[in-house]
Amino acid sequence: MTEQELRQLLKDMSLEEKVFQMVQLPGQNFDTSAAVTGYADRQDQNDPLLSQAGSTLGIFGAAKLKAIQDTYMEKQPHHIPLLFMLDVIHGYETAFPCPLGLGATFAPKIAETCAQVSAREAAAGGIHVTFSPMADLARDARWGRVMESTGEDPYLNSQMAAAMVRGFQGEDVKEPGQVASCVKHFAAYGAAAAGLDYSNVELSRHTLREYYLGAYGAAVEAGCEMVMTSFNSWNGIPCTGNPWLMKDVLRREMGFDGVLISDWGAVGEMVNHGICEDLEQAAQKAAEAGVDIDMCADAYARHLAQLVRMGKVEERTIDDAVWRILVLKNKLGLFENPYKDADEIKEKECFLCQEHRRLAREAVRKSIVLLKNAGDDTRLLPLNREKKIAFIGPYVEGEDMRSSWVVTGSAEASVSIRQAAKEVLPAQNLLFAKGCTLLDNDTILNLDEFHMDGWEEENARLLKEAAETARQADVVVLCLGEHRRQSGEATSRTQIVLPKIQRKLLHTIAQVNDQVVSVIFSGRPLELREVSQYSRAVLEVWMPGTEGGHGIVDVLTGVYNPSGKLPMSFPYTVGQEPMSYSAYSTGRPKPEGMRGDYTTRYLDAPNEPLYPFGYGLSYTTFSISKPVLSSSSMTADGSITAAVTVKNTGDWEGTETLQLYLRDVTASCIRPVKELKGFCQVTLQPGKEQTVSFTVTEEMLRFHNPKEEYGSEPGLFRLWIGASSDCREYVEFELKPSGQ
Ligand code: GLC
Repeated sequence: MTEQELRQLLKDMSLEEKVFQMVQLPGQNFDTSAAVTGYADRQDQNDPLLSQAGSTLGIFGAAKLKAIQDTYMEKQPHHIPLLFMLDVIHGYETAFPCPLGLGATFAPKIAETCAQVSAREAAAGGIHVTFSPMADLARDARWGRVMESTGEDPYLNSQMAAAMVRGFQGEDVKEPGQVASCVKHFAAYGAAAAGLDYSNVELSRHTLREYYLGAYGAAVEAGCEMVMTSFNSWNGIPCTGNPWLMKDVLRREMGFDGVLISDWGAVGEMVNHGICEDLEQAAQKAAEAGVDIDMCADAYARHLAQLVRMGKVEERTIDDAVWRILVLKNKLGLFENPYKDADEIKEKECFLCQEHRRLAREAVRKSIVLLKNAGDDTRLLPLNREKKIAFIGPYVEGEDMRSSWVVTGSAEASVSIRQAAKEVLPAQNLLFAKGCTLLDNDTILNLDEFHMDGWEEENARLLKEAAETARQADVVVLCLGEHRRQSGEATSRTQIVLPKIQRKLLHTIAQVNDQVVSVIFSGRPLELREVSQYSRAVLEVWMPGTEGGHGIVDVLTGVYNPSGKLPMSFPYTVGQEPMSYSAYSTGRPKPEGMRGDYTTRYLDAPNEPLYPFGYGLSYTTFSISKPVLSSSSMTADGSITAAVTVKNTGDWEGTETLQLYLRDVTASCIRPVKELKGFCQVTLQPGKEQTVSFTVTEEMLRFHNPKEEYGSEPGLFRLWIGASSDCREYVEFELKPSGQ
């Protein structure tokens, strides 16, 4: 449609019809084959909403959505097409590593390609919009949704969020195989108090701007078509009803002109927050904050037209919202092609095709972080194919390795560790045992609980069998981890350790065989002190998805030399949470290597994590020289080049991620002891070296000062280039005042 035709369409619509465009209904209302959900369900099939709600979510499949679209458009007064939205978080049929794992690749291009393939498969399945990327900064491993983030660092998150938007949307969302991207959850959902999902967020505007808003801004800059509000309140005001956040910051400062949708039921939840008396007031508050679509709260459907008639909401507000919704549908080309890419043949051709599986396998390989590989010539990894190897643990086979945010596809399409090991290792050298159930009995999960009659007896049998198996092996590969439903939405935990029964398995095996490699599946950082104590090697593999078995075995056998780096600190203990490498010095920083009486320290634990942000080992070793600066000072309109020589000092080809950190030593407000400002990856053959340089610009030195002005301040800066955030050796340079 031309803009003129679209304007005319808006003019021709009645108030009710316009309001209905701002309503999103659960997909189950259209897909009579699925159970209704209770929320905003329409029992009466003649309900006008069923032919006028502007969008729906949670249903998928080319044939199904084409049929729904036909029925809907026939009845819609102006035959305006329905928008189909879905949580395609890290894959559709082909499930890639969960976003925290993609963050561990430190390779935005990988995240972009995974998003591109996810979009291709989802578009074939009839989807128009995905609720991804999640750009929430995540620094508290008790919060289960860290799984959906790319971690604790604003710069890494910004790079990843922008890459995923590009992957989902391409150059033009109308193009085949592209979907519109909805970045979420605006804003600062990851700072939920005590790691408790949906809870309040207390952040100064300074901290909000300095750490939490950047990645959403990067997604907006990359052109995301939608933004989703977050469930949490921020400083006492629910984000979904916060005009400062949604209008001043998102629309005016960030320049976002797309569609703003609430999270599921979040408009109505403002009554529970205690800021609205009823659904009518909630509808008014959300509309005033500029929320264009009410996801499944029924607030707009029931009250918005009346609020306009009562003069409590201006019709102009409705027109602006509906205009943005119509523009999005037009950008997707839906007026000309309401099915967009829904195509049963394309589904069959592209779902889980070899090209997609190959990419998924590569993403798994690059997401894996080698946390420990003890000894020099006695190292256990990569595995020695001549040795007898026992794969033991609940993740050897039979457990879904995809995250809890995969709503499509099937676990059966996944490649297990057992299957992958049998493909490449000599059968006569292979042993397998389940070892134990993944969960302790009566474990509470979201929407579920694990209970097994005879759990004790079954695990006694499994443990005995596992010990027998371990006795016969030279090396044991223990495949342990969280259950997929122990991370994701509504999965906050106060203890972030492996289930007791798995720790019992670890001890049982260690008593009979101390040559243990532990492979850890998780959607969050876990406390791994005990695992590290009883393992000679430890790999973190996140929730790796469809090609998990292949990618993990590729790393175990050395087909791929691990290159992943931690996107989130792994704490020494959960008591340190929330934590980040990018912390403040405090007035009494604990002196290195000293007791630190009367300083910032714990009496019962170190300040440092067990494994820091940016950390990850390789089968080879690298040396990185001290940075050399092109100058010891720069002016605001200049720059400095910082160069290092990195050398592969081991005997394996490998990839190192060089990380550039800066510190503003003295400023008009306190600044973190380190901030990631750049990274790049270098692949070197043994013995080879390469000079790598970063250009430091004035823009990289900017921050929000106490007056919320964004800029740099002259003074002394420190610069590190290392292979982890705990790199030590730095050089200094000065930003001179302008004109000097
Ligand atoms: C959920 C999540 C959000 C998701 C939405 C639609 O509650 O918070 O991330 O996109 O509802 O499923």
